[in-house]
Amino acid sequence: MKLADNKATMSFSNGAPSVDLPVYQGSVGPDVIDIRKLYAQTGMFTYDPGFLSTASCQSAITYIDGDKGELLYRGYPIEQLAVNCDFMETCHLLLYGNLPNEAGKAEFTKRVSNHTMVNEQMQFFLRGFRRDAHPMAIMTGLVGALSAFYHDSTDINNPEHREISAIRLIAKMPTLVAMAYKYSAGQPYMYPKNNLSYAGNFMHMMFATPCEDYVVNPVIERALDRIFILHADHEQNASTSTVRLCGSSGTNPFAAIAAGVACLWGPSHGGANEACLNMLEDIQKMGGVAKVGEFMNQVKDKNSGVKLMGFGHRVYKNYDPRAKLMQETCKEVLTALGLENDPLFKLAMALEKIALEDDYFVQRKLYPNVDFYSGIVQRAIGIPVSLFTAIFSLARTVGWIAQLNEMIGDPEYKIGRPRQLFTGSVKRDVLPIAQR
Ligand code: CMC
Repeated sequence: MKLADNKATMSFSNGAPSVDLPVYQGSVGPDVIDIRKLYAQTGMFTYDPGFLSTASCQSAITYIDGDKGELLYRGYPIEQLAVNCDFMETCHLLLYGNLPNEAGKAEFTKRVSNHTMVNEQMQFFLRGFRRDAHPMAIMTGLVGALSAFYHDSTDINNPEHREISAIRLIAKMPTLVAMAYKYSAGQPYMYPKNNLSYAGNFMHMMFATPCEDYVVNPVIERALDRIFILHADHEQNASTSTVRLCGSSGTNPFAAIAAGVACLWGPSHGGANEACLNMLEDIQKMGGVAKVGEFMNQVKDKNSGVKLMGFGHRVYKNYDPRAKLMQETCKEVLTALGLENDPLFKLAMALEKIALEDDYFVQRKLYPNVDFYSGIVQRAIGIPVSLFTAIFSLARTVGWIAQLNEMIGDPEYKIGRPRQLFTGSVKRDVLPIAQR
C-alpha cells in the first residue's frame, strides 16, 4: 500500500482532540482512510453496515469501475478475456496473476484434469439427500464435505495445501454440480472425460448417458466457457467476503468455499439468475410483452416488494459489462439452436428497453447485471432453472480461492472481527422465575 500525500483529520464538536488518519492510494480507484488505530486513539468505532464506504482488504486481483462499467481481472478487460481466452487461462490468471503461454496452459489444464474425479464415497453422501433437494442445498453440503475426503490439503497455512486444494476445488466443482443434476434426474452419474475441455467435460457429465455417444456442440461449449469466464471473480462481493471472513479463522479451504456457496445462494446475489428466469416465466404466463408495463408499475411501487431481478448493482452505476457480453452470448446460442424467437429473450429485451428509459431506473442508475441474460442462455442449453446458481458457484470458485489465498498470504491479514453499536439492554439482574 502506498501512502498518499494528504492525510485525513477527524475532529469532534465536543472539544475532544482531533486525530490524523493516514490515507493510502491504490493503483487505481478511490483512496482509503486507514482507521485501524481509530479505536485506540478515540475509543470510537466507525459504523458502516453493508460496507457502503469500507474497503475490507487490499487486493490485486479484480478491479471494477462502477461508473464506467469496467471490469478488469488482473488488469485485463473482461471483454478481451471473454473473446481471446478460455476459462482455464482465466483461472491461471486469477490464481497466479499472469496469462499462461501455450506450455503453461497445457501444464495447468493437465493439473486440473488430473483432479476431476471425486472420491467414490461422495455418491453415497449425495444419496442422503431427497431427490428434489435444491442443488444449492446439495452443493453447500458436498463442498463442505470435501474437507472430509482430502485431509492432505486442509491446512490453510501451508502453501502446498492451498495450491492443491485450489486445483482440487476448480477441478471437482463441475463434477459435483453434474452429480447434483443427475441425482435429481434419476440418471446414472457420468464420470469425467479428461480429453474434453473444462466446459466440454461439464456438458458431458451433465447431458451424456451410458446408453449413447455424446458429442459436444462447440457453440454451446464456447458459450458455457464464456459464462464461466464472466462469473469467475468480482472483487469483494458478498460471497467472496464471506469466504475471506470464514477463512480468516484458519478454517480449511473447502469449508471456506462452502460458506461462499451458501452466501451466493441468496436472491440478492447469485440466486438472482434463478429468480430472474422465474420472474420472466411469471410475466410470460401473465401475458408476456403486453404485460411489461403492468409489471413495471409493480416494481416501482415500493409497497409491492417486487424487484426487477437481474437489475441493479451495488458497484455498477452503469451497464454491467458482463451483461453486455451475456446478451451477445445469448443471441449466439439462440441462433445456433434455432431459437431466435425465444419468447423469454424477447420479453427480457422489452423489459430492458423500458427500464433503460424509465425515470425510476434512470434516476437510480439501475442497469442490467450479469444475471439478467445468463438464465436465458442456460435454459436454452438445457440446464434446469434450479441449477443456475450452482453453475455460478462452479465458475466463481476460482475467484473465491484466489481471494482466499491472497488473504492468507497478506502480511496484514488478521481474523475478521467486526465491532458493533450496541442498542440492547444495559446490565440487569435475573429475577427468580416466579417474579418475572
Ligand atoms: N428493482 C427495483 N428497484 C431496485 C432494484 C431492482 N432490481 N435494485 C435496486 N432498486 C432500488 C432500491 O429499491 C433503491 O431505491 P430507493 O433509493 O428508492 O430506496 C435504489 O434502487 C438503490 O438500491 P439499493 O437496494 O440501496 O442498492 P444495493 O446496492 O443495496 O443493492 C442489489 C444492490 C443488487 C442487491 C439490488 O440492486 C437488487 O436487489 N437487485 C436485484 C437482485 C439482483 O439482480 N442481484 C444480482 C446482483 S449482480 C450478480 C451477483 O452479485 O450475484
